[in-house]
Amino acid sequence: MNHNKFVATFFIIAGIMILADVYFYFGIKSKLSRKWRITYLIVSALTISFMIFSTVAYLNGYKLPPFLRIYVFGITFCINISKILGCIWLLIDDLRRLFKFAKAKITSDKVALEGGIPRKKFLQLGALGTFGVLFSTFIYGIVRGGYNYSIHTVSLKLKNLPKNFEGLKIVQISDMHVGSFLSSDPLEDAFKMIAELNPDVVFFTGDLVNDITEEALPHQEVLKKLKAKHGVYSILGNHDYGDYVYNDSMPDYLEKKAHNKTLMQQVHREAGWDLLLNEHRELVIGDQKISIIGIENWGSGRFAKYGDMKKAMASVDPDTVKLLLSHDPSHWDAQVRPFHPEVDVSFAGHTHGMQFGIETKFFRFSPVQWRYDQWAGLYEKGHQQIYVNRGLGFVGYPGRVGISPEITLITLERA
Ligand SMILES: [Fe+2]
Ligand SMILES: [Fe+2]
Repeated sequence: MNHNKFVATFFIIAGIMILADVYFYFGIKSKLSRKWRITYLIVSALTISFMIFSTVAYLNGYKLPPFLRIYVFGITFCINISKILGCIWLLIDDLRRLFKFAKAKITSDKVALEGGIPRKKFLQLGALGTFGVLFSTFIYGIVRGGYNYSIHTVSLKLKNLPKNFEGLKIVQISDMHVGSFLSSDPLEDAFKMIAELNPDVVFFTGDLVNDITEEALPHQEVLKKLKAKHGVYSILGNHDYGDYVYNDSMPDYLEKKAHNKTLMQQVHREAGWDLLLNEHRELVIGDQKISIIGIENWGSGRFAKYGDMKKAMASVDPDTVKLLLSHDPSHWDAQVRPFHPEVDVSFAGHTHGMQFGIETKFFRFSPVQWRYDQWAGLYEKGHQQIYVNRGLGFVGYPGRVGISPEITLITLERA
């Protein structure tokens, strides 16, 4: 996103939030005691001031301390989203009152016009209840959800899998977003869980950081602990290019992006990972082999398209099983399925399952499914498959509700 677009987006979002704040206050104020009204106004003044302050700091290239940038920003976001959704009840009430007012005007109902049309108490309580339930759920997700790693076990059936690869254990993780970690401890906990799975191969499918590569430097020693018998293969995600910090309002932004990428390559190399930038590797066991292809970020819509499948697939042995690492799952329907039927399985991340949703044995939902057809788990179309990992870290909202951070254990099987 360029500088002007970012500023315009900020003003639109800030405008909606401030309007919702004022509208929510006037809608529920008759239900609040004087003490609670003053509390509401103080919290609103603080959240609006913080949003403006953090955006001005961001636009001027100043990075706030992690606790402010991650948790104060996150809680501010939770308060505002809860208010916006609470406003739906008030909007229903105001439409009802508008309709009654218009009817009183037409019928010249003086009693209704002079006495006013009062709010429905249950709709006001609905607004307050929605705010309360959502806000406490979001806070619970921050306290308990962010590091509640869960292991998803998947059997991946492949028709032409060589015998030596039968039972191969691949651990996939994605979207670490280490810029959201106040310490390396949660990362170390996740890597311990991975080590206990004794993986043959690890795939890391991008978004190591939130904004810039420097965020990874304090975690460098712990990143080295992500290991596997036949190696760790990694790719970049949309957050790994510095695109959200270095924009065309800065005269030297191209140099800064180039530095960001060079440093990112160094971080992967020092961690002992094999970073695949539109290229492939052959994994050989005994006298048999499969191909692991990794492309740079390619996302549909507004997301950057650095990925180059032609380059990545060049010289791949056509007789091998082909496993593709591609951060954004929208790449599968856009490029892989139509133009690369030779790819057997894609491994993606990026959606985070929106860090919010419901998953049970029989039913699952996340708002992110309105944006991505493949948003979590294994999908199959024709002879091709894609696995979308829900992500290990978080970005924006500093927690998770209903969609746990994921470590995937994939076992290859011959179909
Ligand atoms: Fe991500
Ligand atoms: Fe992403």
